[in-house]
Amino acid sequence: MSRLRVVEILRSESSPGHVVVKGWVRTKRDSKAFSFLELNDGSCLGNLQVVADATLPGYEEAVVPARTGASIEVEGEIVASQGQGQRWELQASRVVLIGPAPEDYPLQKKGHTMEFMRSIAHLRPRSNLFGAVFRIRSRMAYAIHQFFQERGFVYVHTPIITASDCEGAGEMFRVVTMEGEKVRAGADEFFGKPTYLTVSGQLEGETFACALSNIYTFGPTFRAENSHTSRHAAEFWMIEPEIAFCDLEGDMTLAEEMVKYLVDDALVHCAEDLDFCNRFVDKGLLERLEFVRDRAFERISYTAAVELLLASGQTFEYPVQYGLALQSEHERYLTEQHFRCPTTVYNYPKEIKPFYMRRNDDGKTVAAMDLLVPGIGEIVGGSQREERLDVLLANLCEQGLDPSAYDWYVDLRRYGTVPHAGFGLGFERLLMFITGVGNIRDVIPFPRTPGTAEF
Ligand code: 4AD
Ligand code: MG
Repeated sequence: MSRLRVVEILRSESSPGHVVVKGWVRTKRDSKAFSFLELNDGSCLGNLQVVADATLPGYEEAVVPARTGASIEVEGEIVASQGQGQRWELQASRVVLIGPAPEDYPLQKKGHTMEFMRSIAHLRPRSNLFGAVFRIRSRMAYAIHQFFQERGFVYVHTPIITASDCEGAGEMFRVVTMEGEKVRAGADEFFGKPTYLTVSGQLEGETFACALSNIYTFGPTFRAENSHTSRHAAEFWMIEPEIAFCDLEGDMTLAEEMVKYLVDDALVHCAEDLDFCNRFVDKGLLERLEFVRDRAFERISYTAAVELLLASGQTFEYPVQYGLALQSEHERYLTEQHFRCPTTVYNYPKEIKPFYMRRNDDGKTVAAMDLLVPGIGEIVGGSQREERLDVLLANLCEQGLDPSAYDWYVDLRRYGTVPHAGFGLGFERLLMFITGVGNIRDVIPFPRTPGTAEF
């Protein structure tokens, strides 16, 4: 007799025989002679049907009170199911009620709103949808490491507490000790200077690329932008590869390959969970993912994209004009209406991009790129980095930044500088794209957004 997970039983070719299974009751139906319990242990979407004969010893104490939400242990024989919809069922010979769940268990019925599910983020992984989303999240984290490790990239842990604002946007959370009063008076800076939660590991990542050639980071990042959209969180995870001896072209190619690789991996390894998302979240999901896996992506320069948007005849809420950032509605027009596939926009005006991006020969644009996908817009932002010392120093001054604060970063251009490039993939944006889930709060276990930090 062995303890098995539900997934091992449901996927086995022949009966595993006599087993012990532990999990939570999803539903129970009672007839005169039997109870049917749907048992889920989170190992897969499917439930194991348990048949408990009313003559079982302990039936009154263990099976009768084993309501939705209760945890139980069942021992018995796996037999071919008589009923529809499942191959195997568990004929119980012993049922133990581990933890009962009273009738106020919040996940009684199906069809709760996503808003309600957010209010019970501690219980929502026990639902079909959130179980699927968080298994996919786990698999994608694994596949990201696999993608880079297969290509010889070194995983670097960049700091979470930092003194530099990588994006120069001033959207950082300040790190202070509990002795806040003193801090406000400027008397007690724990680190001797102001520090913040990182918005990006890029700058530190670049130092490692300029030593180990190909590196990536994968960690939490924080932004104090007051964006109340379905695509912004205050805490999110980013994957940031950095490649030495690489230009913008190679950078765009790596980003495209990575997105395709991850979509393919999900289609192969998360088939059951994606099928659920396709049925209950977004009916076009599987078709779209297969399309993304199989077809080449588009690329267009920022300048050409602006011309295309101006000529589109569409009315947009935000203006389209050379020199302005592309808004989500513009990005979505490009990927959903015009190209109908993932699209990389490159060479943006230097005025709307950070200091570290490499100036192009036209003097107006920088070697930046954003990878946009249908339904979401930007999921990747990256660039070739300015490797020329004099140009980098000029950029810092032009953007009103103090070069001495970036001394160590500038050193990379003083000592053996090399062309290099990288990008940041927003992990949650990727997950929204892969699952079809429309709100970033629903692909993060415990989301942090302006005004909410529950759990
Ligand atoms: O475009 P961003 O700001 O680029 C950087 O931070 C660069 N330092 C990356 C690099 O070149 N190494 O952010 C990268 C990605 C975005 O494309 C988006 O997917 C995600 O991070 N992102 C967010 N995701 C969720 N919530 C937010 N508030 C996000 N801000 C950015
Ligand atoms: Mg960006």
